[in-house]
Order: sequence, then C-alpha cells, then structure tokens
Amino acid sequence: MAKIVFEGVRKTFGDFTALDGIDLEVGSGEFLVVVGPSGCGKSTLLDLLGGLSTPTDGRILLDGRPVTGPGLDRGIVFQQYALLPWRTALGNVEFGLEATGVPRRQRSARAREYLDLVGLGGFEDRHPHQLSGGMRQRVAIARSLAYDPDVLLMDEPFAALDAQTRESLQDELRRIWQRTGKTVVFITHGIEEAVYLGQKVAVMTSRPGRIKEIVPVAFGARPGTGTAAGPQGEELRSSPEFARYRHELWTLLHDEVARARQLEKEEASV
Ligand SMILES: Nc1ncnc2c1ncn2[C@@H]1O[C@H](COP(=O)(O)OP(=O)(O)OP(=O)(O)O)[C@@H](O)[C@H]1O
Ligand SMILES: [Mg+2]
Repeated sequence: MAKIVFEGVRKTFGDFTALDGIDLEVGSGEFLVVVGPSGCGKSTLLDLLGGLSTPTDGRILLDGRPVTGPGLDRGIVFQQYALLPWRTALGNVEFGLEATGVPRRQRSARAREYLDLVGLGGFEDRHPHQLSGGMRQRVAIARSLAYDPDVLLMDEPFAALDAQTRESLQDELRRIWQRTGKTVVFITHGIEEAVYLGQKVAVMTSRPGRIKEIVPVAFGARPGTGTAAGPQGEELRSSPEFARYRHELWTLLHDEVARARQLEKEEASV
C-alpha cells in the first residue's frame, strides 16, 4: 500500500487556484523530490500533507487514512525556520522529544547527538537570535530528525546553507533515509540536489500547480551512498549518468520557468 496518496487534490485561495488535479503516490520508504518554478504551489502541497491546511477538493491519504491535521507521524522542516525563540538550540530539539514522550533523562543526550549530526556541537546553549540563518535551519532539521517520525516533509531545508554544509547534510540525510526506511518528501530548487537525493523527482507546472512529469532516478551502482561526504559522493555527482538526469530535469524545468515568467509579465501589464 502506498504510504501517501493525493487524489484529485485542488487548493484555492479565494479565486486563485494554487494546485489543481494533483494525483500522486509515494510508496513506503520512498524518497520523493518535488521541483518547480517559484510560486507553483510546492509549499502549499507540503502544508496540505502536513495537515496544516485542507484541500479545497480531493483528499490526501496517509497509510490509507485521510489527513485531518498535523501529527507526530510527520516531521516538517519549513522553508522558513520555525524555532521557539525563547528556547536554546538544545531546548528546541528537545521540544519534539517531549511531545513524543521520550523520558527526560534521554532527551538531552538524544538532542545533543542530533545537534552534533548537523554540525552544531558546542552551540547547544545558543538561542535562535544568536545563530545564523543556516544554523537555525540546521537546528530545525535536527529537531525533525530527533523524534524519529515515519514521514519527513522538508521544504527547501538546505537552501540557506553553504555548498559544503549542504553536501554533507545531503549525504547525512541519504544515510538516515537508508538506515531508517523513512518516507521523505523533499522540496528543492536545486536540480543537482534533486538528482542526488531523489528516487523519484516530481516536476510541477505553474499556475495552477500540477504534476507535469515524474522522473525516476536510478543509478546502476550508486557509489555515493553509505559513505561520508567525500570522493564517493563526488564520484556520483560528476558521473555521466548524473549529468544526463540533471539535463533532463533542467529541460523540463526550463520550459516551466519560462512559462511562469510569461504569465507574470502578462499579469503585470494588465
Ligand atoms: N495563504 C495564502 N493565501 C493566498 N495565496 C496563497 C497563500 N499561500 C500561498 N498562496 C499563493 O499560492 C501560490 C503557491 O504558493 P507556494 O508558497 O505554495 O509556492 P512555492 O512553490 O512554495 O514557491 P517558492 O518556490 O517560492 O517557495 C503562490 O502564488 C502564492 O502566492
Ligand atoms: Mg515554497
């Protein structure tokens, strides 16, 4: 049974149709990446799946049951870091563990472990306003991973990071995904990130947002997996297969972005 199913989902805001005719299945343990022009409805799609808003038409099933609200079975990393400003980095990561009932004694150790994982060992006691944007985003990532939800929903989680940190977190996320069998829905503007992470890449159209095409990504023997960031990850990123997928996605996206810009121009001149 599919883990996540979108059935004829439409979402409108007033007269504006943000998403239309979304039919999509994500298998259990699958890694789906969603790409599309800015404003095409990616965050809207993730909000619906997170149960933060409801479809205007159609429905979304999780494990066969309609999504009716947020739940601890889904961890969300928002496009804009959503941390509690009055809590430290450690306290923010512990927050998710409190909700899932991890005993107090284990919380701090687990939170430290995940802060270490995202490269923030030593920053446990800083408050969000004392951290850079990228660091805050890493705290949010640590928080969503630490309480171990079945499904990870990630909205451009690595966008604010420098290239090196981004690549090491991509490797880490792949490793966690492989080890835990989580189902991941990951939004990005990065074509290379999509090819590197996704088993399937859904390309969206703009206005209204629909699924234009789903590109399965499979590498013969995937050398970039199961190892730390380094030559192996780089080997994959620079392989001819990688370049082929990159080009395929680039072409699909290029047409959509051009169309979205044209629509914006027409609207601006009205
Ligand atoms: N609460 C809302 N009320 C009105 N319009 C909204 C609302 N939320 C989103 N929209 C509109 O819906 C469309 C899709 O927005 P969304 O944030 O999902 O796009 P996106 O694909 O995530 O864009 P980006 O890549 O820039 O993050 C946009 O045109 C946006 O203006
Ligand atoms: Mg968005």
